[in-house]
Amino acid sequence: MTVKTLPGLLDKMWHDYITINPLAQKISDLFTDEGEVILNDHIALRTFNHPRVTIDVLARPFIESGYKYFGDYHFPEKKVYAKHYQHADEKMPKIFISEIRLEEFSQALQKIVYGLVDQIPESKEFEFDFVSGGRPWKVSTQSYNELMKESDYAAWVAAFGYRANHFTVFINALKKFSDIHYLNDFLKSKGYKLNASGGEVKGSKEVCLEQSSTLANNIEVLFEDAKLTIPACYYEFAKRYAMPDGKLYQGFVAASADKIFESTKQGQ
Ligand code: NI
Repeated sequence: MTVKTLPGLLDKMWHDYITINPLAQKISDLFTDEGEVILNDHIALRTFNHPRVTIDVLARPFIESGYKYFGDYHFPEKKVYAKHYQHADEKMPKIFISEIRLEEFSQALQKIVYGLVDQIPESKEFEFDFVSGGRPWKVSTQSYNELMKESDYAAWVAAFGYRANHFTVFINALKKFSDIHYLNDFLKSKGYKLNASGGEVKGSKEVCLEQSSTLANNIEVLFEDAKLTIPACYYEFAKRYAMPDGKLYQGFVAASADKIFESTKQGQ
């Protein structure tokens, strides 16, 4: 079913996300059972900087719905660039879209990616709910494994296409779990594994943002030729602090996001 409104789109993105990351629903329910009301800090999407599917193309439905560009971020080590968008209504999740910089990779990787994007039916990328449409191409396990050699990020986009890579619980809106360390301990006590790359808590009060995340769960994905069990999505948690001017920091910290990206790395 196609959706044409922002609430409909966000709802579709959440339902698609918990279908491939059921742990997010379980964790969300854990907090709800503790009397919490969950607000989303941000939703993250991934793409390639191929002209048909750049960040700007993916941002269209959000811009049409009142979101505005807020800031951009560079991840030179991952060869990734990102932009974030915000809605005038601060209760709406921020949208964080990152793209892999194809020109910084091998010709072989670029050829595979162009072969994927060429399969997208004409103008489909302009449909309002393209960002929640899943994988719009066929891909072989060989291509997936080839991409994985150079970029787990590129391999993730090839395997999963257009859907939320993660949703993020806004810790500030929680009552009992307003301390990220306490929240992490609670999740671990319930048996959830956290991404420990760069420490369980990325960032600090000094940079006005603390983040943690679960490790992506592995799911079975059907490729053109076979099935593979690969990392899918993770659930993130973010606590924001006030800046010297008293306003809550609304940006992202590149050094932290860099480590968070690794939540979808294989073998963790
Ligand atoms: Ni995030």
